[in-house]
Amino acid sequence: MQLLDGKSTSKAIKEELSQAVEQRKKDGKKIPHLVAVLVGNDGGSLTYVGSKVKTCQKIGFESTLIHKEDTISEKELLDLVNELNNDENVDGFIVQLPLPKHIDEKKVTLAIDPKKDVDGFHPMNLGNMVLDLPGFLPATPAGMLELFKRYEIETSGKHCVVIGRSHIVGAPMSIMMGRNSYPGNSTVTLTHSRTKNLKEIVLQADIIISAIGKPGFLTADMVKEGAVVMDVGITRIEDETKKKGYRISGDVDFENVAPKCSYITPVPGGVGPMTIVSLMMNTLKAMELNGK
Ligand code: GUN
Repeated sequence: MQLLDGKSTSKAIKEELSQAVEQRKKDGKKIPHLVAVLVGNDGGSLTYVGSKVKTCQKIGFESTLIHKEDTISEKELLDLVNELNNDENVDGFIVQLPLPKHIDEKKVTLAIDPKKDVDGFHPMNLGNMVLDLPGFLPATPAGMLELFKRYEIETSGKHCVVIGRSHIVGAPMSIMMGRNSYPGNSTVTLTHSRTKNLKEIVLQADIIISAIGKPGFLTADMVKEGAVVMDVGITRIEDETKKKGYRISGDVDFENVAPKCSYITPVPGGVGPMTIVSLMMNTLKAMELNGK
Protein backbone atom coordinates (compact mmCIF):
# COMPACT_ATOMS: atom_id res chain seq x y z
CA MET A 1 0.00 0.00 0.00
CA GLN A 2 1.27 3.44 -0.90
CA LEU A 3 -0.09 6.66 0.57
CA LEU A 4 -1.20 9.33 -1.88
CA ASP A 5 0.42 12.11 0.08
CA GLY A 6 -1.44 15.32 -0.72
CA LYS A 7 0.59 17.26 1.81
CA SER A 8 3.99 16.64 0.21
CA THR A 9 2.59 16.75 -3.34
CA SER A 10 0.92 20.08 -2.70
CA LYS A 11 4.16 21.38 -1.16
CA ALA A 12 6.02 20.50 -4.36
CA ILE A 13 3.34 22.24 -6.45
CA LYS A 14 3.51 25.33 -4.22
CA GLU A 15 7.24 25.50 -4.89
CA GLU A 16 6.59 25.27 -8.64
CA LEU A 17 4.01 28.05 -8.35
CA SER A 18 6.42 30.25 -6.36
CA GLN A 19 8.97 29.79 -9.13
CA ALA A 20 6.36 30.71 -11.75
CA VAL A 21 5.63 33.91 -9.79
CA GLU A 22 9.35 34.74 -9.60
CA GLN A 23 9.67 34.18 -13.35
CA ARG A 24 6.69 36.45 -14.02
CA LYS A 25 8.29 39.15 -11.88
CA LYS A 26 11.55 38.83 -13.82
CA ASP A 27 9.62 39.09 -17.09
CA GLY A 28 7.89 42.24 -15.83
CA LYS A 29 4.50 40.48 -15.86
CA LYS A 30 1.59 40.87 -13.46
CA ILE A 31 1.47 38.79 -10.27
CA PRO A 32 -1.70 36.66 -9.94
CA HIS A 33 -4.36 38.16 -7.69
CA LEU A 34 -7.02 35.93 -6.10
CA VAL A 35 -9.97 37.38 -4.21
CA ALA A 36 -12.05 35.28 -1.80
CA VAL A 37 -15.50 36.45 -0.76
CA LEU A 38 -16.76 35.06 2.53
CA VAL A 39 -20.28 35.71 3.81
CA GLY A 40 -21.04 35.07 7.48
CA ASN A 41 -19.05 33.15 10.09
CA ASP A 42 -19.46 29.44 9.31
CA GLY A 43 -16.56 27.67 11.08
CA GLY A 44 -15.60 25.43 8.17
CA SER A 45 -15.78 28.25 5.61
CA LEU A 46 -13.61 30.51 7.80
CA THR A 47 -10.96 27.79 7.97
CA TYR A 48 -11.03 27.05 4.22
CA VAL A 49 -10.92 30.67 3.15
CA GLY A 50 -8.16 31.33 5.70
CA SER A 51 -5.99 28.55 4.21
CA LYS A 52 -6.65 29.80 0.67
CA VAL A 53 -5.44 33.29 1.56
CA LYS A 54 -2.46 31.92 3.54
CA THR A 55 -1.42 29.75 0.58
CA CYS A 56 -1.53 32.78 -1.73
CA GLN A 57 0.81 34.63 0.62
CA LYS A 58 3.16 31.65 0.81
CA ILE A 59 3.58 31.38 -2.95
CA GLY A 60 3.75 35.11 -3.64
CA PHE A 61 0.28 35.64 -5.12
CA GLU A 62 -1.60 38.78 -4.25
CA SER A 63 -4.75 37.94 -2.26
CA THR A 64 -7.71 39.79 -0.82
CA LEU A 65 -10.30 38.47 1.59
CA ILE A 66 -13.64 40.25 1.45
CA HIS A 67 -15.61 39.29 4.55
CA LYS A 68 -19.29 40.32 4.62
CA GLU A 69 -21.89 39.99 7.36
CA ASP A 70 -24.52 37.31 6.78
CA THR A 71 -27.10 40.10 6.66
CA ILE A 72 -25.79 41.19 3.22
CA SER A 73 -28.63 41.20 0.68
CA GLU A 74 -28.56 39.15 -2.51
CA LYS A 75 -28.49 42.38 -4.54
CA GLU A 76 -25.46 43.70 -2.59
CA LEU A 77 -23.59 40.43 -3.13
CA LEU A 78 -24.44 40.42 -6.86
CA ASP A 79 -23.19 44.01 -7.08
CA LEU A 80 -19.93 42.96 -5.42
CA VAL A 81 -19.55 40.08 -7.92
CA ASN A 82 -20.10 42.53 -10.73
CA GLU A 83 -17.45 44.87 -9.32
CA LEU A 84 -14.94 42.02 -9.14
CA ASN A 85 -15.82 40.94 -12.70
CA ASN A 86 -14.86 44.43 -13.88
CA ASP A 87 -11.80 44.95 -11.68
CA GLU A 88 -8.74 44.69 -13.96
CA ASN A 89 -6.51 44.00 -10.98
CA VAL A 90 -8.46 40.84 -10.01
CA ASP A 91 -7.49 37.74 -12.02
CA GLY A 92 -9.76 35.25 -10.32
CA PHE A 93 -12.21 35.13 -7.45
CA ILE A 94 -14.34 32.75 -5.49
CA VAL A 95 -17.46 33.15 -3.43
CA GLN A 96 -17.18 30.61 -0.63
CA LEU A 97 -20.19 28.29 -0.32
CA PRO A 98 -22.53 27.70 1.44
CA LEU A 99 -24.22 31.11 1.39
CA PRO A 100 -26.96 32.19 3.83
CA LYS A 101 -30.41 30.84 2.94
CA HIS A 102 -31.78 34.19 1.73
CA ILE A 103 -29.21 34.25 -1.09
CA ASP A 104 -29.66 32.12 -4.21
CA GLU A 105 -26.31 30.36 -4.78
CA LYS A 106 -27.20 29.61 -8.40
CA LYS A 107 -27.77 33.29 -9.16
CA VAL A 108 -24.41 34.18 -7.62
CA THR A 109 -22.58 31.41 -9.49
CA LEU A 110 -24.14 32.52 -12.78
CA ALA A 111 -23.14 36.13 -12.14
CA ILE A 112 -19.41 35.33 -11.96
CA ASP A 113 -17.50 36.03 -15.18
CA PRO A 114 -16.48 32.54 -16.44
CA LYS A 115 -13.01 33.96 -17.24
CA LYS A 116 -12.50 34.72 -13.54
CA ASP A 117 -14.36 31.67 -12.19
CA VAL A 118 -11.34 29.87 -10.72
CA ASP A 119 -13.66 27.53 -8.76
CA GLY A 120 -14.89 26.23 -12.11
CA PHE A 121 -18.53 26.24 -10.92
CA HIS A 122 -20.04 28.36 -13.73
CA PRO A 123 -22.06 26.33 -16.31
CA MET A 124 -19.77 27.68 -19.05
CA ASN A 125 -16.73 26.12 -17.36
CA LEU A 126 -18.60 22.90 -16.59
CA GLY A 127 -19.63 22.77 -20.27
CA ASN A 128 -16.05 23.35 -21.38
CA MET A 129 -14.99 20.50 -19.11
CA VAL A 130 -17.51 18.11 -20.70
CA LEU A 131 -16.39 19.13 -24.21
CA ASP A 132 -12.68 19.03 -23.34
CA LEU A 133 -12.29 22.72 -24.16
CA PRO A 134 -10.00 25.14 -22.29
CA GLY A 135 -11.49 26.50 -19.07
CA PHE A 136 -11.33 26.04 -15.32
CA LEU A 137 -11.77 22.61 -13.78
CA PRO A 138 -13.39 22.48 -10.33
CA ALA A 139 -10.60 22.47 -7.76
CA THR A 140 -11.24 19.23 -5.87
CA PRO A 141 -11.59 16.93 -8.91
CA ALA A 142 -8.62 18.72 -10.54
CA GLY A 143 -6.57 18.07 -7.38
CA MET A 144 -7.41 14.37 -7.59
CA LEU A 145 -6.41 14.23 -11.27
CA GLU A 146 -3.10 15.82 -10.27
CA LEU A 147 -2.54 13.05 -7.70
CA PHE A 148 -3.15 10.39 -10.37
CA LYS A 149 -0.61 12.15 -12.59
CA ARG A 150 2.07 12.73 -10.00
CA TYR A 151 1.90 9.11 -8.77
CA GLU A 152 1.66 7.86 -12.38
CA ILE A 153 -1.40 5.74 -11.62
CA GLU A 154 -2.91 3.94 -14.61
CA THR A 155 -6.55 4.90 -15.14
CA SER A 156 -7.16 3.72 -18.72
CA GLY A 157 -9.61 0.84 -18.95
CA LYS A 158 -10.06 0.77 -15.17
CA HIS A 159 -13.46 0.65 -13.52
CA CYS A 160 -13.85 3.83 -11.49
CA VAL A 161 -16.74 3.99 -9.03
CA VAL A 162 -17.63 7.45 -7.75
CA ILE A 163 -19.74 7.58 -4.59
CA GLY A 164 -21.75 10.81 -4.36
CA ARG A 165 -23.08 13.06 -7.13
CA SER A 166 -22.49 16.56 -5.72
CA HIS A 167 -22.11 19.36 -8.26
CA ILE A 168 -18.72 20.27 -6.76
CA VAL A 169 -17.07 16.84 -6.63
CA GLY A 170 -18.90 13.62 -7.58
CA ALA A 171 -20.63 14.72 -10.79
CA PRO A 172 -17.60 16.52 -12.37
CA MET A 173 -15.20 13.77 -11.26
CA SER A 174 -17.36 11.12 -12.96
CA ILE A 175 -17.11 13.08 -16.21
CA MET A 176 -13.39 13.76 -15.97
CA MET A 177 -12.53 10.10 -15.31
CA GLY A 178 -14.43 9.08 -18.44
CA ARG A 179 -12.82 11.63 -20.79
CA ASN A 180 -10.54 10.51 -23.59
CA SER A 181 -7.33 11.75 -21.96
CA TYR A 182 -5.03 10.98 -19.04
CA PRO A 183 -6.05 10.73 -16.26
CA GLY A 184 -9.30 9.39 -17.63
CA ASN A 185 -10.37 6.70 -20.08
CA SER A 186 -11.91 4.84 -17.15
CA THR A 187 -15.24 3.06 -17.24
CA VAL A 188 -17.18 5.12 -14.74
CA THR A 189 -20.09 4.26 -12.47
CA LEU A 190 -21.62 7.18 -10.59
CA THR A 191 -23.41 5.98 -7.48
CA HIS A 192 -25.62 7.93 -5.07
CA SER A 193 -28.27 7.65 -2.37
CA ARG A 194 -30.72 5.79 -4.69
CA THR A 195 -28.17 3.25 -5.93
CA LYS A 196 -29.15 -0.37 -5.34
CA ASN A 197 -26.53 -3.00 -4.44
CA LEU A 198 -23.90 -0.36 -3.75
CA LYS A 199 -21.56 -2.84 -2.07
CA GLU A 200 -21.60 -5.20 -5.08
CA ILE A 201 -20.83 -2.30 -7.43
CA VAL A 202 -18.05 -0.83 -5.30
CA LEU A 203 -16.49 -4.29 -4.93
CA GLN A 204 -15.93 -4.30 -8.71
CA ALA A 205 -14.02 -1.01 -8.64
CA ASP A 206 -10.35 -0.63 -9.49
CA ILE A 207 -10.62 3.02 -8.43
CA ILE A 208 -13.00 4.23 -5.70
CA ILE A 209 -13.70 7.92 -5.16
CA SER A 210 -15.84 8.57 -2.11
CA ALA A 211 -17.35 12.04 -1.72
CA ILE A 212 -20.41 11.84 0.53
CA GLY A 213 -19.25 13.23 3.89
CA LYS A 214 -20.22 10.18 5.96
CA PRO A 215 -17.41 9.24 8.35
CA GLY A 216 -16.24 5.63 8.03
CA PHE A 217 -18.81 4.83 5.30
CA LEU A 218 -16.45 2.85 3.05
CA THR A 219 -15.57 -0.32 4.92
CA ALA A 220 -13.03 -3.03 4.05
CA ASP A 221 -15.71 -5.52 2.91
CA MET A 222 -16.62 -3.10 0.07
CA VAL A 223 -13.09 -2.87 -1.33
CA LYS A 224 -11.40 -5.18 -3.82
CA GLU A 225 -7.77 -6.16 -3.12
CA GLY A 226 -5.40 -3.73 -4.90
CA ALA A 227 -7.93 -0.92 -5.40
CA VAL A 228 -6.98 2.77 -5.52
CA VAL A 229 -9.04 4.75 -2.98
CA MET A 230 -9.51 8.50 -2.90
CA ASP A 231 -11.33 9.88 0.13
CA VAL A 232 -12.91 13.31 -0.31
CA GLY A 233 -14.78 13.30 3.02
CA ILE A 234 -13.86 15.97 5.56
CA THR A 235 -16.35 15.78 8.42
CA ARG A 236 -15.73 17.45 11.77
CA ILE A 237 -16.30 15.11 14.71
CA GLU A 238 -16.42 16.44 18.27
CA ASP A 239 -13.36 15.25 20.17
CA GLU A 240 -12.52 16.76 23.53
CA THR A 241 -9.04 15.24 23.50
CA LYS A 242 -8.14 17.61 20.61
CA LYS A 243 -7.08 21.21 21.14
CA LYS A 244 -9.67 22.47 18.64
CA GLY A 245 -12.40 20.31 20.21
CA TYR A 246 -12.86 18.26 17.01
CA ARG A 247 -11.07 15.95 14.64
CA ILE A 248 -11.48 15.52 10.89
CA SER A 249 -12.78 12.21 9.56
CA GLY A 250 -12.94 10.97 5.98
CA ASP A 251 -15.55 8.69 4.36
CA VAL A 252 -13.18 5.73 4.56
CA ASP A 253 -12.53 3.37 7.46
CA PHE A 254 -8.84 3.99 6.79
CA GLU A 255 -7.37 1.56 9.31
CA ASN A 256 -9.11 -1.47 7.80
CA VAL A 257 -9.35 -0.36 4.15
CA ALA A 258 -5.73 0.80 3.69
CA PRO A 259 -4.09 -2.67 3.92
CA LYS A 260 -6.19 -3.83 0.91
CA CYS A 261 -5.30 -0.88 -1.32
CA SER A 262 -2.56 -0.28 -3.84
CA TYR A 263 -2.90 3.47 -3.18
CA ILE A 264 -5.00 5.45 -0.73
CA THR A 265 -5.37 9.08 0.36
CA PRO A 266 -5.22 9.79 4.09
CA VAL A 267 -7.58 12.28 5.78
CA PRO A 268 -6.34 14.81 6.60
CA GLY A 269 -3.38 15.27 4.24
CA GLY A 270 -4.79 13.67 1.09
CA VAL A 271 -7.26 15.34 -1.25
CA GLY A 272 -7.74 18.46 0.96
CA PRO A 273 -4.35 20.12 0.39
CA MET A 274 -4.62 19.33 -3.34
CA THR A 275 -7.88 21.29 -3.60
CA ILE A 276 -6.19 24.46 -2.44
CA VAL A 277 -3.24 24.19 -4.81
CA SER A 278 -5.62 23.46 -7.70
CA LEU A 279 -7.31 26.78 -6.98
CA MET A 280 -3.89 28.44 -7.14
CA MET A 281 -3.07 26.66 -10.41
CA ASN A 282 -6.40 27.89 -11.78
CA THR A 283 -5.57 31.45 -10.74
CA LEU A 284 -2.26 31.31 -12.59
CA LYS A 285 -4.10 29.81 -15.56
CA ALA A 286 -6.62 32.70 -15.39
CA MET A 287 -3.81 35.09 -16.21
CA GLU A 288 -2.65 32.96 -19.11
CA LEU A 289 -6.18 32.42 -20.46
CA ASN A 290 -6.81 36.17 -20.25
CA GLY A 291 -3.55 36.96 -22.03
CA LYS A 292 -1.82 38.69 -19.08
N1 GUN B 1 -17.42 25.19 -0.27
C1 GUN B 1 -16.92 23.95 -0.15
N2 GUN B 1 -15.97 23.75 -1.09
C2 GUN B 1 -15.89 24.89 -1.81
C3 GUN B 1 -15.08 25.29 -2.91
O1 GUN B 1 -14.25 24.55 -3.45
N3 GUN B 1 -15.30 26.56 -3.36
C4 GUN B 1 -16.20 27.40 -2.80
N4 GUN B 1 -16.34 28.61 -3.33
N5 GUN B 1 -16.96 27.04 -1.78
C5 GUN B 1 -16.80 25.80 -1.29
